[in-house]
Amino acid sequence: MEKTHTITPFNPDAPNLKSDPYPIFKSLREEDPIHRAEAGYWVVSRYEDVRNTLMDRQGFGQGDFVKNIQLFYGPEFDVLSHTSYKWLSEIFLMQDPPHHTRLRSLVTGALTAKRVRAMEPRIREITNQLIDDFETDRKTDIIANFAYKLPVLVMCDMLGVAPDDERLDLVIDAIAQSFIIFEARALSDKELAVADREIAFLEEFFGELFEKRRAEPQDDLTTALVQSGTGEDALSLHELVTVAIGLFGAGFETTAHLIGNGLLCFSRFPEQWEKLRNDPERLSAAAINEILRYESSLIATYRTALEPRVIHGQEIAEGEKVLTLIGAANRDPRHFERPDEFDITRNDATHMSFGGGIHFCVGAELARLEGRIAFAELVRRLPELKVDVQTPAWRDGFMFRGMARLPAEW
Ligand code: HEM
Repeated sequence: MEKTHTITPFNPDAPNLKSDPYPIFKSLREEDPIHRAEAGYWVVSRYEDVRNTLMDRQGFGQGDFVKNIQLFYGPEFDVLSHTSYKWLSEIFLMQDPPHHTRLRSLVTGALTAKRVRAMEPRIREITNQLIDDFETDRKTDIIANFAYKLPVLVMCDMLGVAPDDERLDLVIDAIAQSFIIFEARALSDKELAVADREIAFLEEFFGELFEKRRAEPQDDLTTALVQSGTGEDALSLHELVTVAIGLFGAGFETTAHLIGNGLLCFSRFPEQWEKLRNDPERLSAAAINEILRYESSLIATYRTALEPRVIHGQEIAEGEKVLTLIGAANRDPRHFERPDEFDITRNDATHMSFGGGIHFCVGAELARLEGRIAFAELVRRLPELKVDVQTPAWRDGFMFRGMARLPAEW
């Protein structure tokens, strides 16, 4: 059905969407809650609509991956001939049941609450080691030297990647460069060539790791994945590698942004840092929820209509795509009082930052734990910490929201 625009059509490449998406989110939410984007997909921005879309497993799912990507490139584009898109098509986030259920349950079976809880002392140890390394300098790039390093070292520990492996920096770089394929747009030939090359490298790296764990089991998640499932349920080496790249990437990129975005929030609202400083043990868990709500690391995700649906009177046909704006839902005044205020005493975990429904983040508890320890230790050891909030160096891309660097001093 044709729809006339009431506001500027949504464009994921708009520069002001990167610097400050919230005014755009507000006008979408208030003036056009079911919006038609330039590229031909629908955009939902109200809390209830984002939540209902993600929770409606009958009506919305991932649908036909190839068609979804061709929406950005055109029908001639040979999606699966690209190593990067082929990998993306196989991760369980992009699958519908029953494939999704099978892969996800093997991961949740290995990434248990017990395994996450057992990580607590080690996460605290890594956090303090990192702070030891830069504390006496009295200034650092807190993104490179803390926000990224902490979750990377935690994922290394979990998956059994040696933290001194000389290829670790290449792995991190490969993830940063290739995860651009998650973005809702056509990539340039150059971007695509880089993503293909980097995913091929990651497949080789994690392929070797799984071969090693098959031959010599250890106490790590990689071994648990290798051993999980028997007979027909067992994952093939290729499936294991696909899962591991997704876990490693999802596990550090978003958590790094949680820490970086949180530091930015605290510098913009210094009285909240004071509150945390006075009572870190009680407030750090609530602070993580508020950072996630206020400045989420992943501000949007997609679904495809599996059946016709109606949102605000607009018919959504089967096969049409819907962009759910998590970042807009998190600031919807219909759901959150004073949504543009960063208030760590709010303690409201109903934000949409870990998604919802069958794809709800499998790493949510680990991310919360890392965030909680990171802020509790930072505020304890560097209470005078200040970051430069004038011009945040936001990373490219729209869906992931985080900074490339953030100068800090204390
Ligand atoms: C602050 C940190 C994190 C944020 C904001 C975040 C956010 C999300 C969101 C929004 C989704 C759902 C995406 C969708 O429905 O399209 C998701 C799924 C997922 N996340 Fe996270 N995540 C974080 C940390 C982690 C960590 C630490 C791990 C792994 C250890 C992880 C692994 C995954 C995986 C594997 C999925 C796919 C689940 C599925 O499809 O069933 N995430 N995450």
